[in-house]
Amino acid sequence: VNHLLGIKYLNEKDIELIFETADQFKEVINRPIKKVPSLRDITIANLFFENSTRTKLSFELAEKRLSADVINFSASQSSVKKGETLIDTVNNILSMKVDMVVMRHPNPGAGVFLSKHVNASIINAGDGAHEHPTQALLDSYSIREKLGNVKGKNVVIVGDILHSRVALSNIYALQLQGANVMVCGPKTLLPKYIKELGVKVETNLKKALEWCDVANMLRVQNERMAISYFPTTREYTQQYGVNKELLDSLDKELIIMHPGPINRGVEITSDVADSKQAIILDQVENGVAVRMAVIYLFAAKIKQ
Ligand code: CP
Repeated sequence: VNHLLGIKYLNEKDIELIFETADQFKEVINRPIKKVPSLRDITIANLFFENSTRTKLSFELAEKRLSADVINFSASQSSVKKGETLIDTVNNILSMKVDMVVMRHPNPGAGVFLSKHVNASIINAGDGAHEHPTQALLDSYSIREKLGNVKGKNVVIVGDILHSRVALSNIYALQLQGANVMVCGPKTLLPKYIKELGVKVETNLKKALEWCDVANMLRVQNERMAISYFPTTREYTQQYGVNKELLDSLDKELIIMHPGPINRGVEITSDVADSKQAIILDQVENGVAVRMAVIYLFAAKIKQ
């Protein structure tokens, strides 16, 4: 398959290969000359139908470090605003001899839909509340880097699980690698099918933190909420916000992660986000190497 549409479509060996490849690229991007000529014959279009800072720039940098030709498309400045469809938009871009499409889209399943209608390799950079596969890969890669292994580790994903593509992709990725996964959040922000995913469920943050080696703090995604959910922001912060006092009350030093963007003072206080326990910027740094690995491996399939 020439697409990365979700972690759901990968197996443990795929993830191992991506991480071993990312190890090599991490070494490359720390050299004075941070580029390799591997993808001089590949052209990639980054299509963003939804806002992004980290994913958009990280993919672009990863592609440039691999010497691919890159074009960037932002829906808000495009003819999508004049009513052009997704398939027409992408087919027009592909006519310019583009080989691979990296796409972020607000609709769950947009990548799967596109992969059935156009002739290019599709990499999902986040589709609504569905999947964000490269985020989950860089998250696991960062745990592996920090703790040596993902297998057997206790990882809790905290917060707005209901609206989070990061949560779903992380659950799949962590389980494939043999981690124990828990989700923690208010019942109103947990999907009804959560137990079917084989994760532990906890509504008490302190208990969840006592259990885990790693806590991945999610942002409350107000932009995806059609109605007003309990809790209010203040209630959420009181019950599900991580702060230094709470961490100091634990008998251990756990690792704090966050995919970004952070709502400082809501799900995480600044003294935690900026502490040595937090590996938030390591996650961002690793994102470039992991995305280089993904693009390199999928481009190799195109060339076959
Ligand atoms: N983590 C993440 O997807 O961030 P952006 O929305 O800024 O890309």
